[in-house]
Amino acid sequence: MEIDAVYEAGTLYLDERDELLILDQTLLPGERRYIPVKTAQEVWQAIYQLKVRGAPAIGVAAAYGLYVASKNIEENDAGKFCDKVREMSAYLAGARPTAVNLTWALERMEGALNLARAAGVPPQALRQALKEEALAIHREDRQVCFSIAQNGLTLLKKGMGLLTHCNAGALATTGCGTALAPIYLGQARGYGFRVFADETRPLLQGARLTAYELADAGVDVTVICDNMAASVMAQGRIDAVLVGCDRVAANGDAANKIGTLSVALAAKHYGIPFYVCAPTSTLDPACPDGAQIPIEQRDGAEIAQMWYRAPMVAEGAKTYNPAFDVTGHELITALITEKGVLYPPFDRAIAAVLRP
Ligand code: MRU
Repeated sequence: MEIDAVYEAGTLYLDERDELLILDQTLLPGERRYIPVKTAQEVWQAIYQLKVRGAPAIGVAAAYGLYVASKNIEENDAGKFCDKVREMSAYLAGARPTAVNLTWALERMEGALNLARAAGVPPQALRQALKEEALAIHREDRQVCFSIAQNGLTLLKKGMGLLTHCNAGALATTGCGTALAPIYLGQARGYGFRVFADETRPLLQGARLTAYELADAGVDVTVICDNMAASVMAQGRIDAVLVGCDRVAANGDAANKIGTLSVALAAKHYGIPFYVCAPTSTLDPACPDGAQIPIEQRDGAEIAQMWYRAPMVAEGAKTYNPAFDVTGHELITALITEKGVLYPPFDRAIAAVLRP
């Protein structure tokens, strides 16, 4: 498989001592430091504080996290062991509400636990079942990213100017990313894309992370402030927009990093295709439309002071800090999944792709 030819960031891994190590993304681009995570509280904090972030990556982190945290359960009774694992799983699911991949991965882990429990095995073997499921989720995420790369690249042409928002790259997954995946594959095949990365206030995932990983892979990347996207489109420099997402409702409405909606509106205005890249684990058929997607509200300090020593906002001013917004399905040209490219009407396409 060509996957080794494209960029992988080493977002997280289980080391040879069976410890979970997470690349602390809050330190990037200045420092690459891995932090060990051993308890459910440490996993929760790492996810909440965005040390590991991006919908697929937090799913994989939670899966491994549940396994490593289960090693702290001292219980010889299989039933009680399972109860404690389920408690930890519910706790981890509350770390961030918007990305459905978090609960998707934890539900898979609980399913594996239930299967092993039904076989009547002791806690040690139940733990092993959790480890195997986490490894499988990790393996699949890498494969899924590569399939998104292949499917996405079919929509792109050599030399295109591409705009992206936030970071839906290798750092947001455990493979080559979602929105950045076709860019990496194109780079490996000589497509010569010119990528514009919105800086993505307030936490600067575009400037700190997307620019970091694209530049590291030798991709031509230019960082722009969020308020420049429409103007760059008006200048004719953008041929397509590629973004990731955290949850796609049954009708195709897609939640992604705050600011995505204004990029989609501008793209519509200028007739530029707007592609949302998503593994099928990000599709949530139980959520009818975007209005039902829970939007995480984060501390206003992220607007007022994060990443800076000095205050950036006048004292006494209030802040409003929703971490995500919802792009209506009518603004989306296509959803790029690992199972193919989905076109409107999205309700039918999503139902069909999820049909077993
Ligand atoms: O708050 P973040 O950094 O976790 O937000 C991430 C995004 O919005 C990504 O675009 C999304 O999770 C898709 S990642 C492949």
